[in-house]
Amino acid sequence: MSIATSQADGPLPAELGPNLRERLFRAVRGLLDVFDHHVGSRPVLRFAAILFVYGVELGLVFYLAYELRWDFATPDEYARQRLTLLIPIVACKLILLQSFGQFRSVLSYFGLADFGGVVISMCTVSGFMLALWYGSEVSAAPSRGVILMDFVLSVALISAFRLSLRVLRTWSIASHEHAGMAERRVAIIGAGDVGEALAKDLLQRRSSGLHPVFFIDNDPHKIGRSIHGLPVYGPLEKLVKLAPMARVNELVITLKGATPKRLKEIVELGRQIGATTQIIPSFTQLASGEVKVERSRPVAIEDLLGRAPVNLDSAGITRLLGDRVVLVTGAGGSIGSELCRQILAQRPRQLVMVDQTEIALFEIEQELVGTELGARLAPLIVDVTDGPAIRGVFERYRPEIVFHAAAHKHVPLMERQPAEALKNNTLATAGLTRLASEFGVERFVLISTDKAINPTSVMGCTKRLAEKTLQASQQAPGNQTAFLAVRFGNVLGSSGSVIPTFKRQIAQGGPVTVTHHEMTRYFMTIPEAVGLVLQTATLGRGGEIFILDMGQPVKIIEMARQMIELSGYRPEIDIEIKITGLRPGEKLFEELRHNEEIHTATDHPRIFQLKSESGPTNAAAWLEALHRTVEAGGSPAIKQAMQRLVPEYTPFLD
Ligand SMILES: NC(=O)c1ccc[n+]([C@@H]2O[C@H](COP(=O)([O-])OP(=O)(O)OC[C@H]3O[C@@H](n4cnc5c(N)ncnc54)[C@H](O)[C@@H]3O)[C@@H](O)[C@H]2O)c1
Repeated sequence: MSIATSQADGPLPAELGPNLRERLFRAVRGLLDVFDHHVGSRPVLRFAAILFVYGVELGLVFYLAYELRWDFATPDEYARQRLTLLIPIVACKLILLQSFGQFRSVLSYFGLADFGGVVISMCTVSGFMLALWYGSEVSAAPSRGVILMDFVLSVALISAFRLSLRVLRTWSIASHEHAGMAERRVAIIGAGDVGEALAKDLLQRRSSGLHPVFFIDNDPHKIGRSIHGLPVYGPLEKLVKLAPMARVNELVITLKGATPKRLKEIVELGRQIGATTQIIPSFTQLASGEVKVERSRPVAIEDLLGRAPVNLDSAGITRLLGDRVVLVTGAGGSIGSELCRQILAQRPRQLVMVDQTEIALFEIEQELVGTELGARLAPLIVDVTDGPAIRGVFERYRPEIVFHAAAHKHVPLMERQPAEALKNNTLATAGLTRLASEFGVERFVLISTDKAINPTSVMGCTKRLAEKTLQASQQAPGNQTAFLAVRFGNVLGSSGSVIPTFKRQIAQGGPVTVTHHEMTRYFMTIPEAVGLVLQTATLGRGGEIFILDMGQPVKIIEMARQMIELSGYRPEIDIEIKITGLRPGEKLFEELRHNEEIHTATDHPRIFQLKSESGPTNAAAWLEALHRTVEAGGSPAIKQAMQRLVPEYTPFLD
């Protein structure tokens, strides 16, 4: 099977080595730059240069037309006629070209409209000469053969001149833009709509440095056909044979809904042929639905973990969030930023994004601001512990729904600074709940954690206290807001979690450290957890604590292996996996926390509700006591004060 690589080879002969090719590009670029700077930018000079080039071209064509008509033995009589007519005919053509805008248009951009202008100008002059031939005495006009030859040659030469400038500019721009960037030859996996759109984008923008070579697909109806001039091969397994022949060094997966098993196979094939593997997120994940090569991303561990897709009641979520003012705190964080992505997709009237860290907020703002609904964002640097500042946000934006994800979450850090943890995770929540009630917020959702269950850490205890605060606020006199808390366990890829740690270890060349061969953990992907949080927000009536089902446990060593492979290395050969042994108190398997005695099912199979959680009996007194805890002074005193409010808390006292 031969591979049609003409599209991907680029317009220069392949035997030109990269240096010669590069030098040629630079020379062309230099010439075009000289023209642009010294001639193109001066209208009179530019006009004169074009007049000269077109004049010479058209004069030559007129001369040649006679020679061809008379087989290069033009009789003297016609040679004299040619001499008489040369200047008037060329002048007429130049005037017409000028009136059809051919002196104004940029020479190196030659499209259909320009071609039309050239054809009409030349047609008009030829028509005039024909009229002269029919209407005049024998020798006053050129013969019909000369007129035809002159017309065809004029159109061909002017078009060829313009087209060659266009090609030269495209080459030089391509060389300029990816100077130093190695050319990547791409095999597109999947010849469906997404693959087709990607190929079109790549072919249109050669400056991306990515050159599509062929498609590969398993569909027998597509195999053997071609899309945008690129052949479709298949089945997928043929890639191992085809890729080296076509010098493929990048695979881009465009398959809609490919199973994790299929993705794993493709990544493995990519590894075998030494190609990196990228994936285009599905249309539903792309906010604009537009397929562009910049949207591709490396295949991530999350793609391979085989999480069952979460079925959400999207209509209910849209009813809750559509056309509402929604406030997200901690909007720059792992959970908060995903909340912003998913909430914006529900078309809120306004999305108020609050975070105290400028860079985190800036990143999510940059990601979303370019989308269709970017104008509805209100990113604000605000510290939620700053009472007057956060009140200002409520006064100005009047949020209707609040998702509170701002928190300090690192367990060991918070252990050393309990006052800070209490202030940020609990007292700030108490302040926000007060404002929510006061400003008539409809729903307030606290992002909690399973570390709040029988807490053993300051972090867990402060989140438990935040949950209790919510319940106290629910019971506060005159409150109309529905306060809900959602607990869940580890999410994949959040800052400081195992995935960034493995990534760092792989980037450093290993080893990747795993505590035990059999170690398993429950994980959710961030989009999965946040989708369920939004679903939970539609369920509660107020005062409930919900728990998300974490799905199937993941074997940590398997995850480490897959991440090494995704980075293009071989586990144990290129990167070592080091077993470090269990640390004191660390468990091999996490216990499932979904105990039917304490949890009840809800309308959603992956969301449970904590039974009999009524919160503090005397809400006002409880909140008062909470505010006094922070005044308790040093670390052990605060921990003990927290224990009085959360009797199930077992503090670590050093
Ligand atoms: N990451 C997980 O695995 C996970 C799992 C379950 C629950 N949670 C909970 O979700 C919440 C958010 O976690 P995350 O992983 O997104 O953390 P993160 O550290 O990625 O994000 C927290 C964000 O809150 C911001 N923030 C902190 N204090 C603030 C303040 N006073 N004012 C304004 N902004 C503030 C931070 O700047 C940060 O951008 C935490 O309560 C955490 O316990 C996280």
